Parts: sequence; structure tokens; C-alpha cells
Amino acid sequence: MTIYGPYDEILPEILSLTTERIKQLNQQAVYNKQPKLYEHLIARVKTPESMTEKCERKGYPVSTESALRKCRDAVGVRIVCNFISDINRCLEQLRQADWCQIIKEKDYITNAKPNGYRSYHVIIDETAPYRDIDGNQPGHFYVEIQLRTIAMDSWASLEHEMKYKHNIANPERIGRELKRCADQLASCDVQMQTIRQLINSSAGEDD
Ligand code: GTP
Ligand code: MG
Repeated sequence: MTIYGPYDEILPEILSLTTERIKQLNQQAVYNKQPKLYEHLIARVKTPESMTEKCERKGYPVSTESALRKCRDAVGVRIVCNFISDINRCLEQLRQADWCQIIKEKDYITNAKPNGYRSYHVIIDETAPYRDIDGNQPGHFYVEIQLRTIAMDSWASLEHEMKYKHNIANPERIGRELKRCADQLASCDVQMQTIRQLINSSAGEDD
């Protein structure tokens, strides 16, 4: 048995339920003749090994309780959007959804991390038809949702890949260059948003 104990089987169920629910929000938007909410979704259950490592790093007891209640990212969904405005539309939908409650938000878009990382992180408390660790059924499960644009996502992927190359000659230089790329991509996101608005308003003139 892993750190997740009996939740080894439940967490993948929570993951697919969350994914389905988010897909449904998108289908509703499209049905209402609105642009799609996001380009794509990816979802994962944190491996028991990384969860154990995280608990140790944070000084929590290595237990199922820590994995599900102290850490709140055992289940994670990344929503990758075309435009910054779509991130806000997704957030609006999540705020209105009756199956979850947003309990924490970190806006690394307004306040990018010093290295240039941008993304909007929320932790939701999701209701699901399984018994939770406190004995409630339907239960409450934490899910971390990361919302980013395609540009933010491409930067994060490349940066993540390079983080693990430790034997690099000039890490300060590389850090500076990465930050520069992040800022350029952020400026592209703003330009793309402007282009979309221009297209939308000229489409409106035709009607
Ligand atoms: P941990 O969950 O322990 O990492 O700490 P936290 O909850 O304080 O972290 P935070 O909300 O800042 O980030 C959680 C997740 O965001 C990470 O697991 C990554 O997926 C992503 N992330 C945060 N910072 C960076 C970064 O600098 N680069 C990349 N590529 N991803 C990041
Ligand atoms: Mg986290």
C-alpha cells in the first residue's frame, strides 16, 4: 500500500470526475455560443513517491492524512487556455459551480514569480460521491487547478525540463535569459488578447 492507503483507487476516480466536470463547463459555454473555455486539459494524480517526498520536505508525518489534507495537490488538473480572458472565464465558471468551492487562490499572472513563472493556481474543495478521510459521504476532496495560457505553459514546460540539469556552466545567465523569455511571452499574450478583441469587435460590425 502507498501513502494514499485506501485512496489509491479513489484518487483516479476523483481525477476523472473533475476532468468530466470541467469538460462539461466547456460544453455548456460552447452550447451558449461562446468561445471554448480552454485549448486542452491535462490531469494527474501525484505519484506516491513525490507525495512522500513532499510530506518529508514539509515536515509532515508520512501518512494518508498528510497526503490528502495537509497537502492539497494529490489530484491536479491543468487548464491550458488560448487567451488570458479565457482564464478569467474559467475562473468565473469554477466560482459558480455547485460541485466545488474555491478555498485558495494564487495569482502568479498578476504577480509572476521572480523566475518568470506565470499561472493562476486554485485549490478547490470538491464534493464527490466517495467516503472521504473524515468519514463523510459524499466526501470532500482537494484538487489543485492550474490555469495558464499556451504561452505560459510552453515556458513552464521548458523551464521544468531545464531545472533538472544541474551541471550547467552559467546558471545566472540562464536564469536571466529564461526570465526574458517569460516576459516576452507575457507580452505576446497581451498582444494576442488585443488581436482577439479587434477581431471580435469587427465581427460585431458585420452583424
Ligand atoms: P509545492 O506544492 O510544494 O510545490 O508548493 P506550493 O503549493 O507553495 O507551490 P505553488 O503553488 O507555487 O506551485 C505548485 C505547482 O506549480 C508546482 O508543482 C508546479 O507544477 C508549478 N510551479 C510553481 N512554480 C513553478 C516554476 O517556477 N516553474 C515551473 N515550471 N512550474 C512551477
Ligand atoms: Mg502546491
